[in-house]
Amino acid sequence: MLNEGDKRAVARRFAAAAARYDASARVQARIAVAMAERLAALDLPTGVRVLEIGCGTGLLTAAALARLPQVGHWLATDIAPGMVAACHQRLSTDPRLSVAAMDGEGPATQGPFDLICSTLALQWFPDAARALSLWHGLLRPGGRLCVATLGVDTFAQWRAALAAAGVKAAGPAYPDAATLSRWLGPGGRVERQDFVEHHADARHFLLSLRGIGADYAPTRLSPASLRRAMRGLDAVKPVDITYDVRWLTLQASSISHG
Ligand SMILES: C[S@@+](CC[C@H](N)C(=O)[O-])C[C@H]1O[C@@H](n2cnc3c(N)ncnc32)[C@H](O)[C@@H]1O
Repeated sequence: MLNEGDKRAVARRFAAAAARYDASARVQARIAVAMAERLAALDLPTGVRVLEIGCGTGLLTAAALARLPQVGHWLATDIAPGMVAACHQRLSTDPRLSVAAMDGEGPATQGPFDLICSTLALQWFPDAARALSLWHGLLRPGGRLCVATLGVDTFAQWRAALAAAGVKAAGPAYPDAATLSRWLGPGGRVERQDFVEHHADARHFLLSLRGIGADYAPTRLSPASLRRAMRGLDAVKPVDITYDVRWLTLQASSISHG
């Protein structure tokens, strides 16, 4: 489990990676498009107000704004100022967009929103359950929460190589479906979709994580342990890496309690 100190380190990693993120973010781009297609299928009314958490360089922002002409205002946010700047640069000509640097675990913004969405940020939060509950509270009655995060089988091949090498995984642990359902609360839905990314070898896989700034781990592996696990993963080349993506969706009650 990550703590507040880890969170600041995570933010620094992503901020430093903003300029090179897109070059390595192959699977992230596919997941962003899949999320945008899901949002387009929601049949949202005209003028909707959207909050995006952990926008990164704007892969989802761009894919969604291109598919959702009915958006009135889209506020893209990220804890890393460099990411927010990259998102703004990508989409600066779209008058529906504004951006802000903020911690998505307690967004410093006023609701209500018709839609709150996020791809591949929640797994970096020390208290994801609390964040989901806060986001729920920012929704308008009938508003939607749509989140893509990583599930327990993410990087299964790498975890198996680590285990075979007798090494304890150093990265964050990902939740199972029951945990995600509990975090989301009553009425929430959790679906699984695997995305597989192909890499020439273990080194290429690990460099891709570093490329997007997602290589933070609370503990470090020794060089010898790392080499052992990499040799194990390289036993079958090219290397396939699974991203166990969980789609979390929830619709706020259409009865206002305010
Ligand atoms: C793997 S990137 C995903 C970015 C983008 N959504 C995409 O799919 O390409 C994770 C993003 O989450 C952001 N992030 C991590 N912790 C955050 C937090 N507590 N609040 C807001 N953003 C956070 C990082 O700065 C980074 O931009």
